[in-house]
This record gives sequence, structure tokens and C-alpha cells, in this order.
Amino acid sequence: MKEVNVLVTGAAGQIGYALLTRLASGETFGEDTLVNLNLVEVPQVVSRLEGSKMELEDCGFNTLGKVKNFSDINEASGDIDWALLVGSIPRGITINGKKIEERADLLKINGGIFTEQGKAIGENAKKDAKILVVGNPANTNALIGSTHGNNSSQTWMAMTALDANRAKAQVAKKCDVSISDIKKMTIWGNHSPTMYPDLDNAEINNKSVSSLINNSAWIENDFLQNVQQRGKAIIDARGASSATSAANAAIDTVKATLTETPEKDWFSAAIMSDGSYNVPEGLIFGFPLRSNSNGEVSIVKNLPISDYAQEKIDITTKELLEEKNDIGDLL
Ligand code: NAD
Ligand code: LMR
Repeated sequence: MKEVNVLVTGAAGQIGYALLTRLASGETFGEDTLVNLNLVEVPQVVSRLEGSKMELEDCGFNTLGKVKNFSDINEASGDIDWALLVGSIPRGITINGKKIEERADLLKINGGIFTEQGKAIGENAKKDAKILVVGNPANTNALIGSTHGNNSSQTWMAMTALDANRAKAQVAKKCDVSISDIKKMTIWGNHSPTMYPDLDNAEINNKSVSSLINNSAWIENDFLQNVQQRGKAIIDARGASSATSAANAAIDTVKATLTETPEKDWFSAAIMSDGSYNVPEGLIFGFPLRSNSNGEVSIVKNLPISDYAQEKIDITTKELLEEKNDIGDLL
């Protein structure tokens, strides 16, 4: 059997719980691959991972390899192929009497986690390791991590697949089609209320979704609002942030990266800007992406961008530049 070494931080949290079985079951890396899991938690709760380990064993997956628990990221990151960086504080909770309302408010609390983790991964993980940051604010945390990783052969991504899945769900309802009929969904920019889900370049049966819907008021007032505010709607309804759908989106991102992207499709994640679409270099920005047969990820170039879309992309770019400015001391 082949083997893959996967690091998961925050493994005892809500998303971690939903994620581990799907990583180990064969669904993500294939039935021919043993999945070794390095699970990381803060020292206060690392002992809970013993329970996760027992449950994983009890699932009886043929593809489960070694499961090891850590509270030290340097020990955990040795020789890993994939890092899923989930460990961080979610919004919606109250700290020192103040409720954390926006993901960006988490920057000062969570940002510091990614300096040490980035350095450890840059030094210890495999040279072609892929890193998916889920912990919020995901784009800027990934920027901190990749800066401290300082290893250009590794690929840092921040998760926007959940937003793309949310956008597809809204379109499927509106157009009365299956999710799998919707291709080429892009989330431009930040995983935040400024993200821009692009229906001009998304397609159903090779036709632009915005032209099929032909209702700009619905796109502006219903669709965009629903996708941009979905995380908050879930926190309000559930009393905790999305977990099963977040874990699902992380699995989708890993799978999309592992397989060659079909010609008539692409996937969404945030990666380091190379200046494409005039997005400043040095931001982790949501783009349309393709993966090749070696698992190398690249930005889909030369898509048409309307004036309306450019306005939205400028707003989310500005927010990411502000976040970058705010964490100057962590870079
Ligand atoms: P949670 O509180 O249930 O779990 C987080 C876990 O991380 C906890 O067990 C905590 O002990 C652990 N942790 C904290 N600091 C750590 C560190 N330095 N190293 C290792 N582990 C650490 O939260 P959750 O619901 O699992 O959410 C986790 C993060 O994911 C939050 O920041 C949340 O906002 C974010 N999130 C992102 C998306 C997305 O689409 N990008 C979606 C949902 C949630
Ligand atoms: C989400 O989009 O569900 C997560 O980022 C959690 C949040 O804070 O909204």
C-alpha cells in the first residue's frame, strides 16, 4: 500500500471530529493508501485525542495507518505530506466579556498560532507538502504561516471550498438543477463577508449562470448576501460555527488537489497571488484553480471580469491588504 502522512491541528475540536473519519476511511486518499495521522491539540486537551484514536480504530478502516497525538507542532510536522490547520478559536464565543463578531476580530487571537506552525512545517514537512488553513481568518492566517514557512516548494492554501459549496447550493435551488450540473464556481478573495462568488464565469451546461438566472437584483440582494453571511447564519442558528460542512469542504479541497482537474471545471481555494487579475502579490487570495496530474496547483488565467465583478474584487482585495497591514508584526 502507498502511505500518506497527514497532520491535523485542532483535532479534538468540532471540525476535527467530523474530519478524521473521512481522512482515514479511504474516501479521500483512495483505498490503496494507508493514512497516518498526526493529531495536534493544545496541552490542556491533548488527552482527549486518545478517545479519537480509539474511535478511529473502532471504525475498522483498512486504510487507517498509525495515529499519533502531539501537543508540540515541531514533533508533529516531521515528514508530513498534508497539513490541515484547523486549530484556532471560532467566532461567536465571548472572550474577556467581548463577543467575537467578525472573523477578522480573531486575527489577534489566532494569528500568532500560525507563526510557530508555519516555521515548523517549513522546516520539517516534505518539500512538496500541501497546507490547507481552515482556522479563521483563514487567508491571513495562511499568509502568516507561509511567510514563516519560507519554503517555496510547499503550497499554502486557505479554504474557500465551503463558500463555493454554499454558492452552488443556492444556485441549484434557484435553477432547479443538481449540484453536479454546476461547474466553474469561483470564490474571489477573502473568506469573509467581502468574498465574491462569481456567477458570470460559473456554468450550467456550458452557459453562464448569471445569464441563465438573468436577475441582477436576486444576485446582489439574495445570492451574495446568503453566501457571504452563511457562516453567521449557521452560528446564530446552531450556537456554534459550521463543522460538518467545513470538514466536508476541507475533504473536497484535498480531493480536488489530488486529482487532475477536469477540463470543463475548476475548484476554489485561496493561494498566494502571483499578480494574476491585478491582485497584489503577497496576498493569499481566493482564485479559480486547477490541479495537474502531479498535484501542482495553478491559477486559471484570463477569465473575463465585468466592471461589477471588478468592483467586488477590489473590495475584498482592500480588506485583505488591511488585514495584512494589521498583522505587520507577525510577518
Ligand atoms: P473548536 O473550538 O471546536 O475546535 C478548535 C480546536 O482547536 C480546539 O480543540 C482547540 O483546543 C484547538 N486549538 C486551539 N489552538 C490550537 C493550537 N495552537 N494548536 C492546536 N490546536 C489548537 O472550533 P471549530 O468549530 O473546530 O473551528 C476551528 C476553526 O475553523 C475556527 O477558527 C473557525 O472559525 C474555523 N472555520 C473555518 C471555516 C472556513 O470555511 N475556512 C469554516 C468553519 C470554521
Ligand atoms: C464559516 O464560514 O462557517 C466559518 O468561517 C465560521 C464563521 O465564523 O463563519
